[in-house]
Amino acid sequence: MEKKYYLFEDKSELAAQLAVDFNNAVSEKVASGEVMTVALSGGHTPKAFFEILAESPYREGISWNNVIFFWGDERCVPPDDDESNYKMTNLALLSHIDIPASNIHRVLGEDPPTNEALRYAKVIEENVSSANGFPQFDWIFLGMGDDGHTASLFPGASNLKEMEKICVVAKHPQTGQKRVSLTFPVINNAKRVSFLVAGAAKEPVFKEILEKGASEALPYPASMVDPENGILEWFLDKAAAPEL
Ligand code: 6PG
Repeated sequence: MEKKYYLFEDKSELAAQLAVDFNNAVSEKVASGEVMTVALSGGHTPKAFFEILAESPYREGISWNNVIFFWGDERCVPPDDDESNYKMTNLALLSHIDIPASNIHRVLGEDPPTNEALRYAKVIEENVSSANGFPQFDWIFLGMGDDGHTASLFPGASNLKEMEKICVVAKHPQTGQKRVSLTFPVINNAKRVSFLVAGAAKEPVFKEILEKGASEALPYPASMVDPENGILEWFLDKAAAPEL
């Protein structure tokens, strides 16, 4: 696994560079006549990235036909609920770009979580090519919570050890809110995984992950992201990684 760290002054600079990289990645797929399968994250940092893609030159410059969107995790709420990652992405990006509706595979947060985790796993299997026995996303974007969670894989949760399923039902440890989340076998099978981490609140956890590396010994799920056959990128602002 190739690991790269990119440090930026602030969240806006981080998001701007990510938009450049995203544009380049889609152009490569267009050149080879392929689509790019992307799993998106919720959170504030990705929102800044989405908002840049929704503006020129990306809004009209990116071949959105070649992009297939999924979510790495979603809250089990209706799509118009303020808690919905889909709603955030739709407001920040999807409603501004010319992308076929069939290229957008949202988690049906309004449906019973257990049924939806099974259904969504099938949607992923049908629309994402597989390798090593699991769906292999071209690119998975992840955030990291202040507690070191990523997607909706929370510290101490039993689903951190899920090695068979593609999706699981997760539960937020404080609020009890149900979520549908990708599992580590899928996350760690991706060709490219990018963490978007900004803000001083992330510093203590990121520092520990940086010092101890990807290890199950750590309590942080984010430290368990380790795409064996892919690239792991950390996009960080100075507040989250003052020591880098
Ligand atoms: C979610 C997100 C979650 C998020 C982190 C970081 O649905 O809550 O997917 O994993 O990425 O909590 O969020 P911020 O970028 O807002 O700190």
